[in-house]
Amino acid sequence: MIAARLCVPMVVGVLVMSSSHEAEAQNAKVNTNESDVKPYSLPDALVTEKGRSVTSAELWTTVRRPELLKLFASQVYGKTPTKSILPTYEVISEDREALGGKAVRREVSIRFTDKADGPHLDLLIYLPKSAERDKPAPAFLGLNFEGNQAVTHDPGVRLSTAWMRAEHGTGVVDHRVTEASRGSVATRWMVERVVERGYALATVCYGDLDPDFDDGFQNGVHPLFYRPGQTKPDPDEWGAIGAWAWGLSRALDYLETTPEVDAKKVAVLGHSRLGKAALWAGAQDQRFALVISNNSGAGGAALSKRIFGEDVAHLNGSFPHWFCTNFHQYSGHEEKLPVDQHELIALIAPRPVLVSSAEEDKWADPKGEFLAAKAAEPVYRLLGKDGLALDAWPKPAENSLVKSTIGYRYRPGPHDVLPSDWEAYLNFADAHLGK
Ligand code: GCU
Repeated sequence: MIAARLCVPMVVGVLVMSSSHEAEAQNAKVNTNESDVKPYSLPDALVTEKGRSVTSAELWTTVRRPELLKLFASQVYGKTPTKSILPTYEVISEDREALGGKAVRREVSIRFTDKADGPHLDLLIYLPKSAERDKPAPAFLGLNFEGNQAVTHDPGVRLSTAWMRAEHGTGVVDHRVTEASRGSVATRWMVERVVERGYALATVCYGDLDPDFDDGFQNGVHPLFYRPGQTKPDPDEWGAIGAWAWGLSRALDYLETTPEVDAKKVAVLGHSRLGKAALWAGAQDQRFALVISNNSGAGGAALSKRIFGEDVAHLNGSFPHWFCTNFHQYSGHEEKLPVDQHELIALIAPRPVLVSSAEEDKWADPKGEFLAAKAAEPVYRLLGKDGLALDAWPKPAENSLVKSTIGYRYRPGPHDVLPSDWEAYLNFADAHLGK
């Protein structure tokens, strides 16, 4: 099965870091000039499809919110299957003296079939010692790109079994990880710092859910839900981002069974394409108490109709497996989209959401992310919350953090998750999760 996969011709390369993003923007001929942004109009989050004004929380909850969820599902990310699969949980390892005695580390295998090599999630959890002594800890949950072993130097974490890209930029999935990757993205996760601040950290490799290439949806969790005879998702059914978001909810199911975690205080977060997945997970699954999007850009927190940086044609051309097939009709036709990304953020209301942008990350359209966050405000206000406590797009600043219910951060530097971003996440979570 894997051998066949290796022979699949790969889609255009995927570049992940900032310098690559610059090159990508130039090659892709997308708009990177503010003066070339044409006038556009956004759908009103508070007007129903039948043209009715949404003037009460009840109307939002019973009519408009379901309507928007349905539109995002059928036109953008694809519908998430409703069939529930009863997984089995197996604790694979536990170290009660992890991180020099500061934490308990647990690895849990979440299995969706009884086949040993069937789809499963390897969940890595660090729990602060205080979670046992005092009270259950709030938690951060996010998908990682490189395997659980890469998020920390802890030698006890098992190597990921997911298939990985040869390197970001090639689009080729050709190997399993080795020891060499241990701790390679430790600064993107700051495990010790998170635990020191009293939070648990839980993570899963996104490749466990669906390997990130256009494989016709054969190797991830999609086939678990096919009808008899079905071989790929229908045009309005989920793509890879939908599967990644689904996996976040399955990890939350497990956290709900973990006594040391306060499952009512779980922040779901993600960087870049995994930020898109975190937003979609938070929009659909209201158990997530807080959502953090880091540099999620097009198809994430940035407005599509503004057409700045990566556009819908680029998303669909380079990553045909991310969204549903219906989304492809909007390549070059953003004006026809019945929704825009401010409404995705609005679907998180009244829960806190932090949109975090980086100055050098023009590809992700930081200004479009700000404008989307701001345009979600009327829904938050309708639900009795404050919105985004900024009137204009701010200048980037190292310690930038606006802590209103729609939070915003805009810092200098590249497309990445930096230690200073984690300080902002922790401060935002402290403010909203009532620690
Ligand atoms: C590419 C892609 C973005 C995505 C990013 C990433 O740059 O165009 O949409 O967010 O990869 O996931 O790093």
